[in-house]
Amino acid sequence: MKTVVLIIGANGQLGSVLTESLQHKHGKDNVIASDLHQRKSFDGIFEVIDATDKVRIQNVVTKYNVTQIYHLAAILSAKGEENPLQTWDINMKTLFNVLEVSRLSNIERVFFPSSIAVFGEGAPLSQTPNDAYLDPATVYGISKAAGENWAQYYFLKYGLDIRSIRYPGVIGYQSLPGGGTTDYAVDIYHKAVLEQQFDCFLKEDATLPMIFMEDAIRATIELMEAPKENITVRTSYNIAGISFSPAEVVEEIRKLYPNFVVKYTPDFRQDIASRWPKSIDDTTAKKDWGWKPEFDLESITATMIQKLKQQYKIDSKSHNTLLL
Ligand code: SER
Repeated sequence: MKTVVLIIGANGQLGSVLTESLQHKHGKDNVIASDLHQRKSFDGIFEVIDATDKVRIQNVVTKYNVTQIYHLAAILSAKGEENPLQTWDINMKTLFNVLEVSRLSNIERVFFPSSIAVFGEGAPLSQTPNDAYLDPATVYGISKAAGENWAQYYFLKYGLDIRSIRYPGVIGYQSLPGGGTTDYAVDIYHKAVLEQQFDCFLKEDATLPMIFMEDAIRATIELMEAPKENITVRTSYNIAGISFSPAEVVEEIRKLYPNFVVKYTPDFRQDIASRWPKSIDDTTAKKDWGWKPEFDLESITATMIQKLKQQYKIDSKSHNTLLL
């Protein structure tokens, strides 16, 4: 059977990069990108979908004979706290719509992203195991923890082949995150190449698990390609990239920008970060589908700075316009 992929949330930080990788893998004609708003100058098939509208998702699935769905749309941890009930409503409604359309249309495989935000004070802070106790303290984390259980429910009850990863903070030059607690680790590189001061909303020693975009995308595709019988976790897989604090990333950046100035003004996001793991045990992902990260802080920093300089056209001394 021909694989036809629908990506919901294709304009987002992960979605935009994943869309390109999936286009590369399956061909542009077999990848349907979708989001709330049409993406400007998008090369491929794009459908405007509000994922709270189940009929709309169903119509697109039927129109293109979709066989796989990547459901990436969600309101993240920091933004979610502005309006908890609305965040719960949107994150859960969109997931239920995807689960139901997938079940009713015999979708072959579904991807649902979870997050380190599912963990809270009940889980060990270091090397947090896959099966740690989940007591999330943000509405985003609660919606992801519930979502993981619903994913498993649809697998057990209906045999839906739904797979999931608990992403650490994702760092990439290709796109901007929006509304997360780990966003600082992307913003900081933009400020560094623009030679501007960075105001950090976390404390300098707030260590969090992070992953480079290339590793995050590769993990997603490797999990989705793994043989079904290898998938022993139907809630969500822990994956580790690297762990670092703001102070450590600043130290790395200063090797290239010795005058880089950072001011620390921790806000409510520090409270969120303080309950999240500092490092992740991903033994199960390694064992089940061979997960292995490739990027460390040094290679992430070198790549981020090189790519962002190109995007801001800093070498050509033209205006610093971001070309994302
Ligand atoms: N990066 C996300 C956030 O900070 C965690 O999944 O909300």
